[in-house]
Amino acid sequence: MLSPLRPLMSTLADKRFVLVTGKGGVGKTTVCAAEALALAAQGKRVLVAMCNAKERLSAMLGSAPIGSSVTAVETNVWAVNMLPEKALEEYGILVLRSRALYRTLFDNAYVRTFLRAVPGMQEWAMLGKAWWHTTERLADGSFKYDVVILDAPATGHGLDMLRVPKVIIDVVPPGLLRRDAERAWALFQDGKTSAIVLVTLPEEMPTTETIELAGALRDLGLPIGRVVVNAVLPPLFSREERAALEGAPAFEVGSAGDAALAAARDRAARERLQGESMGRLSRELPVPPSFLPLLLDDPASPDAIRQLAKRV
Ligand SMILES: Nc1ncnc2c1ncn2[C@@H]1O[C@H](COP(=O)(O)OP(=O)(O)O)[C@@H](O)[C@H]1O
Ligand SMILES: [Mg+2]
Repeated sequence: MLSPLRPLMSTLADKRFVLVTGKGGVGKTTVCAAEALALAAQGKRVLVAMCNAKERLSAMLGSAPIGSSVTAVETNVWAVNMLPEKALEEYGILVLRSRALYRTLFDNAYVRTFLRAVPGMQEWAMLGKAWWHTTERLADGSFKYDVVILDAPATGHGLDMLRVPKVIIDVVPPGLLRRDAERAWALFQDGKTSAIVLVTLPEEMPTTETIELAGALRDLGLPIGRVVVNAVLPPLFSREERAALEGAPAFEVGSAGDAALAAARDRAARERLQGESMGRLSRELPVPPSFLPLLLDDPASPDAIRQLAKRV
């Protein structure tokens, strides 16, 4: 039998930077939203940063649409949808401390070529901006946000994004860009302050992809803080019942018994695959997976997100 749904471990509460990634459509944004609400309920000031997303977070949180400027969306929760061009411009202005200077430089073909030539500059514009928000302070010197949650691109692109700071450190001459990349990289590598959250589904393909992604992150030296298996079916059958159902002889085709048996068999097969996926994840990943249930009512509504936040 599957272990009963248990609440997620509360290891994200002390983090300053949380990066959420995983295969497309597995529930990354849903997890970001639930995590943001859970941390905010503990009194943390949370910023959720999205990467050039077709933005659905506002629907999940019941807020006004979220654009490319940071806006408050809930008590203690802020959000921003980062656009690479705009993030790069903001960053340029920050570095140069002057909009006019930025414009002058950006009209300069040499600078444009340089920025295009640095591999991953678009990714850095967003990853670097998300990191930079962790450094922002209020007038009293305290951090503006206790934690920044980055709703990162799906697996391959997420990994490409995470490789960029190291590329900058290796190829860019000393200067502000490289210093920021070094500071960001040091933060990301520190498991006490940063966590990468891998979101997956209890199915074969996402499980395989998650195990591969975990290996790639380990090779990069980045800490996995949590693995969330999303949309888990509550188990109805025991292992013995599943085996009996899957091995049972068919009723006469078209009979009521046949339809019921087919439905029960489908369910038993899904539960078995789910159990196998979770077994693989438990064996092959450095942190034990935690689970979120499959929601039947509109899973992208504020009610649903609040329900998930209670399990975080
Ligand atoms: N636990 C869940 N139960 C049911 N549906 C879910 C659950 N988590 C996410 N979904 C739905 O799955 C779809 C993909 O989720 P989303 O968070 O947008 O994924 P991603 O950000 O990884 O692309 C959305 O329609 C979302 O509402
Ligand atoms: Mg998303």
